[in-house]
Amino acid sequence: MVIDLEKPWVEKYRPNSFDEIVSQNIAVNNLREFVKKSYKMPHMIFSGPAGTGKTSTALIIAKKLLKGEDFYRNVFELNASDTVRMDFVRHQLKDFVSQNMILSENTLKIVLLDEADNIPKTVQQTLRRIIEGAPSNVKFILMCNYISKIIDPIISRCAVFRFVDLPKEKIVKRLEYIATQEDLPIPPEKKDEFYETLYFISAGDLRKAINTLQMAVALELLENLDINEILKISGFIEKPILDQLVISLKEKDFHKARDLLNTIDYLDSRNFLRQIVSVLPKFEELNLIDFSQLRAYIGEIDFRISQGANENIQLSSLLAEMILRMKN
Ligand SMILES: Nc1ncnc2c1ncn2[C@@H]1O[C@H](COP(=O)(O)OP(=O)(O)OP(=O)(O)O)[C@@H](O)[C@H]1O
Ligand SMILES: [Mg+2]
Repeated sequence: MVIDLEKPWVEKYRPNSFDEIVSQNIAVNNLREFVKKSYKMPHMIFSGPAGTGKTSTALIIAKKLLKGEDFYRNVFELNASDTVRMDFVRHQLKDFVSQNMILSENTLKIVLLDEADNIPKTVQQTLRRIIEGAPSNVKFILMCNYISKIIDPIISRCAVFRFVDLPKEKIVKRLEYIATQEDLPIPPEKKDEFYETLYFISAGDLRKAINTLQMAVALELLENLDINEILKISGFIEKPILDQLVISLKEKDFHKARDLLNTIDYLDSRNFLRQIVSVLPKFEELNLIDFSQLRAYIGEIDFRISQGANENIQLSSLLAEMILRMKN
């Protein structure tokens, strides 16, 4: 059997129509209507977490509205990194927006602006003026993870569509579809745990789920499927280590817990936090920990790490906090 690894599966299985977009029903249903009356279509912002279908949806819209040659001629794709040079935005984009070829004077033009939240505010101001001045046959679709980083004058000129994390059953269904198409030899008895793990790793990001699946295949991990290997290649700690950690915490043995933490040589601290959260119910069953305060503390640690605090200090502080919060 030959498994196709040539092409990234995220591209190979990029949805080509609205029907193939998994979930995102509210956004997709409204967009279907807009596309029918393309000239009345507003400028749009697709906002939401990574790997939930924003770019795919924007491309579907562009392909629906601009067929064949027109797609290549009348779609302008721009990435935040292109806009680092401000003159680039001004000139290229202004030219594209204002040039009206005599023959196709009224054809629709679409500007796809990816990672719009990474565009510096000053450049966003320039962009805003370009959007304001654009003729009605030019439509902007901005994509971003954090709408809070887009300036208000742009937001108020756009219809905002919020994309949401994909739920487990949708992610698993899509992975199963790909596994069937690629004829993957997933051992039936481990299938459920495998998909469960891929979903956990993805945290609702379908791109990450598909990439992890393809990576497992490329590393030939499927035949003797070991879930711990899958966790490891994705930067999560193996289950036996996590179990030992839980035991040492329950025993209030801080030194053992910290030593375990220090043995992990591929530690990704934010993944580690997610795994800690995933084992909290093990403490809950025994009513061992003061939960609300502990969860608040985990949130705080997550924030500190995101701001660049020393990971080892933060994580061992969390282990200490868990032990301190144990009842009895
Ligand atoms: N809602 C979805 N339906 C079907 N496939 C999806 C969906 N979301 C993501 N995918 C899969 O993940 C890949 C990446 O999706 P896409 O590029 O649309 O994500 P995005 O929301 O633009 O993410 P980012 O914020 O990182 O740019 C797609 O090629 C597709 O295979
Ligand atoms: Mg995208």
